[in-house]
Amino acid sequence: MDAVIETSRLLLRTFTINDARLIYDLNKDPEVVRYTYDPITDPEHAKNILETVILPQYALYNHGRWAVHIKQDLEFIGWCGLKYRPEQNEVDLGYRFKQSSWGKGYATEAAFASIKYGFEKLNLSRIIGRAVPGNTGSLKVLEKCGMQFLREEVVDGHPAKTYELINPLIH
Ligand SMILES: CC(C)(COP(=O)(O)OP(=O)(O)OC[C@H]1O[C@@H](n2cnc3c(N)ncnc32)[C@H](O)[C@@H]1OP(=O)(O)O)[C@@H](O)C(=O)NCCC(=O)NCCS
Repeated sequence: MDAVIETSRLLLRTFTINDARLIYDLNKDPEVVRYTYDPITDPEHAKNILETVILPQYALYNHGRWAVHIKQDLEFIGWCGLKYRPEQNEVDLGYRFKQSSWGKGYATEAAFASIKYGFEKLNLSRIIGRAVPGNTGSLKVLEKCGMQFLREEVVDGHPAKTYELINPLIH
């Protein structure tokens, strides 16, 4: 497997158009999408999201949401990575994992590695993280990555706690 990022336990790779089933299966668990407000209705919808949202980011910005696999057995456990949001002119950290992988530190490990990649390889000046106020696990991941709380706001019609991390290498 060609990995963009390797951590001690994980491999992060770019998605391909053949990954629609993985995305659909991940999102069909109501607990996984409880705080994300972006239901995926069927595998065709997942394919459309890959084509229109996930894959174009790699070519345009050299980063994106990456598929995350456990290094040891190559099991797909979810995704993590960066996404440019033109409407806010900012790069956002995001992650979503299968319930079977929760509570093992994988989200923090993948998130930290994505931030490091963004700062060291892409020279990004700042990375944003957002979560719904009730999404304790996600907020914890942002805080464990060293992100600083900025404000509560409404984004895309939903309440969010916004965090930021400034690249220490260029400031
Ligand atoms: C949020 C999510 C990514 C966390 O993944 P994870 O692999 O369990 O996270 P980690 O194991 O790295 O845990 C990080 C910390 O959060 C804590 N945590 C995780 N889930 C928690 C929860 N539901 N409630 C309270 N604390 C939680 C962990 O205990 C850990 O803290 P600790 O090191 O002090 O023990 C995962 O639950 C998920 O994919 N949720 C669905 C998608 C989603 O909501 N994504 C975020 C959208 S903003």
